[in-house]
Amino acid sequence: MNDRIYIFDTTLRDGEQSPGCSMNLEEKLKMARQLEALRVDILEAGFPIASDGDFESVRQIAKEVRTVTIAGLARAMELDIRRAWEALQFAEKPRIHTFIATSDIHLQYKLKRTREQVLEQAARAVRLAKSLCDDVEFSAEDAGRSDLDYLCQIVEIAINEGATTINIPDTVGYCVPDEFGNIFRVLKEKVPNIHRARLSSHCHNDLGLAVANSLAAVQNGARQVECTINGIGERAGNASLEEIVMALKVRKNRLGFVTGINTEGIYKASHLLSNLTGMMVQANKAVVGKNAFAHEAGIHQDGVLKQALTYEIMTPQSVGVPTNNIVLGKHSGRHALSKRYEALGYNLGKEELDRAYMLFTKLADKKKSIYDEDLLAIIHDGIRIIPECYHLKYVHATGGNQAIATATVRLSKEEEFFVDSATGDGPVEATYGAIDRITGLPGRLIDYSVHAVTRGKDAVGEVFVHVDFEGKSFSGKAASSDIIDASARAYLNAVNKAIYERESSAGQRATSAQGRPVGQV
Ligand code: KIV
Ligand code: ZN
Repeated sequence: MNDRIYIFDTTLRDGEQSPGCSMNLEEKLKMARQLEALRVDILEAGFPIASDGDFESVRQIAKEVRTVTIAGLARAMELDIRRAWEALQFAEKPRIHTFIATSDIHLQYKLKRTREQVLEQAARAVRLAKSLCDDVEFSAEDAGRSDLDYLCQIVEIAINEGATTINIPDTVGYCVPDEFGNIFRVLKEKVPNIHRARLSSHCHNDLGLAVANSLAAVQNGARQVECTINGIGERAGNASLEEIVMALKVRKNRLGFVTGINTEGIYKASHLLSNLTGMMVQANKAVVGKNAFAHEAGIHQDGVLKQALTYEIMTPQSVGVPTNNIVLGKHSGRHALSKRYEALGYNLGKEELDRAYMLFTKLADKKKSIYDEDLLAIIHDGIRIIPECYHLKYVHATGGNQAIATATVRLSKEEEFFVDSATGDGPVEATYGAIDRITGLPGRLIDYSVHAVTRGKDAVGEVFVHVDFEGKSFSGKAASSDIIDASARAYLNAVNKAIYERESSAGQRATSAQGRPVGQV
């Protein structure tokens, strides 16, 4: 079908490598399953050579996520390509994605190679990748600033060596739409074997043009679009999946393309990613922002009440934004809670429901009306996908503009209990100081944010933190109607992740095989 656009999701590779977005193995697996449910066509799971952690997550995702093509990134080097294949080999549908820069700026300053040398290296890399895996993607890094004749030359060579997807990245987000679209038109016109490969776009958002450039690419022949959930990625991010998919869907009359995405899963994927990384989307973000479907102006509200079409070009339901205003309260039972979660798209197992119900009853004691957003905050509260080493039993903090803030914290670890106190610049800092004294693992707070999930003074507050432990950053999250409680548990969530990572990498080091293939293509 020539009107079908293939969605290549790189949230777990280009997205994850950006500051503040790192995820551990379990988090990546959870996100990968969500992307599978969203029905992305290709899922780039990581860059296996980059670290043992990246390798392991690509390997696990390749083993567990079976209905989607799983891609692993590799520079155009033998070591990278073999390592990528090692991680991907058990996938149902593996893809090696190899790349090399093609702009003169990159050749001169980064690679310090001639154009000829890069052509040869690209040919060798694609040939090797093809000998291992039938599905090979070749990317010309910084294609957006590359000489077009040279780009045509390298693309032709890559296709001759067996690349079945040719990806054209605007690596630094420099292009404007007609310029980027033109690259695809020229490739289609000038590269004699171009019909043997699928063209792909990969745009960064430095000038806020990533989605517009991706659409221009599609209009000029690209049939794969690389993008990320919430547009996360290097610097200003990548093209946002939800914006591209919804632009194609809402404006099908104009653009004439379809994707295989289950658009009703978009909000869930966006929300999960924010909760895993602590990277919240801005309120006015297209499609998934908190205000994306909120009509504030009287004239708009009046119009929407008369006919939604007046000011609404897509429905919140079409992207899975919860709109039901059924409010649960302290008299609602487990059954009502489980039904409400089902309506929100979550089929909770017994254990998950037990935990959600316990948190729900605690919350309902403090808060009269519980909204859908509260329920989502409950299930994402410090997402327990790693074992909890330390658990908060008690926190008491005092502060004020005339007092020295003090906190006392009691934690449990297995059967043991620990209590300690600290002072700080405010009650949150004092609480973190007390936790550090107990765990013996001092953290440096890089980022702290709190926001109200719902309305009213009794609203649930979600706290996100990024904490540096021993030079590595971990995110943590918790929700509560008490800010100090949420702050303490968010910090402990990050502590537990740091401990878990330390323990699992010690385990991995002990069992990891020795000796990897070496050498350059
Ligand atoms: O932006 C870029 O050029 C990339 C490539 C590695 C595909 O991410
Ligand atoms: Zn990129």
